[in-house]
Amino acid sequence: MSPLKAEVAEDRCANGHGLKARPTGAGLKGKRMDLEFVRSQFPAFDSDVLAGPAFFENAGGSFPCRQVVDRLHRFYTDRKVQPGSPHPAGQSGGAEMDEARSRLAAMMGVAGPEVSFGPSTSANTYVLAQAVRLWLRGTGAAIVVTNQDHEANAGVWRRLADEGIEVREWQIDPETGHLDPADLQPLLADGRVRLVAFPHCSNVVAEINDVAAISALARAAGARTVVDGVSYAPHGLPDVPALGCDVYLFSAYKTYGPHQGILVIRADFGAELPAQGHGFNAGSLYKRFTPAGPDHAQVAACAGMADYIDALHAHHFTSEPDPRLRNRAVHDLMRAQEVTVIAPVLDYLAARNDVRLVGPRDAARRAPTVAVELQGPAEPVAQALIGQGVACWGGDFYAVRPLEAMGIDPRKGVLRMSSVHYTSAADVQRLIVALDAVL
Ligand SMILES: Cc1ncc(COP(=O)(O)O)c(C=O)c1O
Repeated sequence: MSPLKAEVAEDRCANGHGLKARPTGAGLKGKRMDLEFVRSQFPAFDSDVLAGPAFFENAGGSFPCRQVVDRLHRFYTDRKVQPGSPHPAGQSGGAEMDEARSRLAAMMGVAGPEVSFGPSTSANTYVLAQAVRLWLRGTGAAIVVTNQDHEANAGVWRRLADEGIEVREWQIDPETGHLDPADLQPLLADGRVRLVAFPHCSNVVAEINDVAAISALARAAGARTVVDGVSYAPHGLPDVPALGCDVYLFSAYKTYGPHQGILVIRADFGAELPAQGHGFNAGSLYKRFTPAGPDHAQVAACAGMADYIDALHAHHFTSEPDPRLRNRAVHDLMRAQEVTVIAPVLDYLAARNDVRLVGPRDAARRAPTVAVELQGPAEPVAQALIGQGVACWGGDFYAVRPLEAMGIDPRKGVLRMSSVHYTSAADVQRLIVALDAVL
């Protein structure tokens, strides 16, 4: 058995990743999310500075949960020596880094070595694209990219054209921003596509793409899938095997954690791609795509994200030993809360004839990241909203391609109001009142 296979098999034995067939939401103690409890987990809501405005810039970066802040502080005060070294602090620091990887992996239904950390998602896609460049160069292969993606999951792939790899664009509907799987099928028809890169949901369109169906289409055509989950993961960590993709990427700093990019790569694809780290580390899957030395403290602090999910589970549900099922239950709890809370602002915006709501009006079909095109530039309106006690932002959000594809001038940009599960109905009311005053 290869060292990579042995590493993953050992982890699977230790963690037992068989998902029991049990409905999510089973064991719910109450009917709804306890928002007071949720907000008590975030130091920001006790901060004189941060707790002031209603916060709608979560898609830029969420508030970190207390568990992450505490672990980061502990690492810098008590554990800041070389992790894994014989010093007792090196032992506990190294163990904490492993804990972050293995607990998040177990929650997402993958093996520990299938999770690795990098400086950001942009850095992770960059490294992955270097591996794909070597993998596909000179093979006559093609890849598919979308014009719905943030640039992090677009530019690095499009640049592979310089190597003679054919790049095909799967295009959104110019009116709605919808990415239709029916339009992917003809792009895959000749059997030359080896990779399809697409978002779980765009950071401006916000419609949730059917990752499982798209991944199945791609797999049937012999292509691997790379999914940008940055705009989705804050609304519930995914169950990666259920999505069926080969790579899933997201950013911890938008998911209640520290400034890290998290890369999930399934073991067989990770083994097929040429390693990008130090050559002697190539036998370890979680080191193959991390050429930079890891940020020890931040990796360790990512265990706080798992603590937070577990704290939410323990508060709302009866005890469940399987981390994957706990994560699924918390995912559904977060989504249900968000869908209810943002519906009024979607209705309000859809009813105005001086703004264009981007993406679906139905809260259940989208992430609660709400972008609108205004008659003029968005940035001054965001400035005016802060004067009304609402923090959001205007601009292109590095989603230049989708904005252009929908006929929105990126220099004018969109006003983006993004919420997560800790956003309250009162925050949404403040937003609506502020929008009424400013627009
Ligand atoms: C959808 C999406 N993908 C990728 C990224 C890039 O993530 P990072 O900042 O970790 O590079 C962002 C950042 O805003 C994003 O919104």
